[in-house]
Amino acid sequence: MKICRTVSELKNAISERRSLGSIGFVPTMGALHAGHASLIERCRAENATVVASVFVNPTQFNDKNDLKNYPRTEEADAALLESKGCDIVFMPSVEEVYPEPDTRVFDFGTIGAVMEGAHRPGHFNGVAQVVSRLFDFVNPDKAYFGEKDFQQIAIIKSMCKQLGLTLEIVECPIVREADGLAMSSRNTLLSPEQRAAAPVIHMTLAASVARKEWADVEETKKWVKEQIDSNNMLKVEYYDIVDSLTLCSVDSWEHDGSIYGCIAVQVGDVRLIDNIRYK
Ligand code: PAJ
Repeated sequence: MKICRTVSELKNAISERRSLGSIGFVPTMGALHAGHASLIERCRAENATVVASVFVNPTQFNDKNDLKNYPRTEEADAALLESKGCDIVFMPSVEEVYPEPDTRVFDFGTIGAVMEGAHRPGHFNGVAQVVSRLFDFVNPDKAYFGEKDFQQIAIIKSMCKQLGLTLEIVECPIVREADGLAMSSRNTLLSPEQRAAAPVIHMTLAASVARKEWADVEETKKWVKEQIDSNNMLKVEYYDIVDSLTLCSVDSWEHDGSIYGCIAVQVGDVRLIDNIRYK
């Protein structure tokens, strides 16, 4: 596996392999876990060349402390990527990705304004800035994203449309711990007590799916919030039940189209997100 620190090294390494076939790309912020590994495995199975990036992108952090505390485990990340058959990893400095400040402002309409967009101002703009740059450096045929960041996938697809990019965005299922907690780099920041409480999030969402047989959407939202908030380690920031494409709230299970519940929960200083499909 080749480790590239600069854009020119990366472009050279990729151009040497382009004639072999398709280029698959997995962008990450490192502190890699089995969720990331599943994206690499899928990418490995579907492409001649697997490119990953490990870059903690400052422009998508609306909270300075979150950026400062974000786990950084570069050596272990490189070892995991190599073991999964990654060919090229891009591990750049901030200056390499942003030689000049990126002043671009994207407009994603409703999908950028609700849920994470409402609670983390500027977050998706930063995601679009970095992912568009990474796509430009790598020029992949396919890029792999996890459904844990459900809204992020909608943002990336919209960004590709706006920029006229034709690569395929591949959506990969959420990988969970044995107790149901969605894997996240931020899980390592939880205290043992917080870690013990966190599975309540997925347990509650999973239980809420059965309730849709008798409870309506509003009651279900209220129930989920109450269940989770009744644990004193957990505080729901939002829970919304939305159309999977527009991300607008739905008011009935009869809604035409696929429905997801999306949640953000504050666990001490750590913010976790998760989601579940209702139909
Ligand atoms: P990061 O949080 O490192 O996640 C990288 C990719 O791994 C994302 O597509 C994310 O959805 C996926 N992922 C994370 N946890 C997962 C899990 N438990 N199961 C399945 N997939 C999972 O998302 C980002 O980084 C950044 O915003 C990035 C796109 C790299 C831009 O900076």
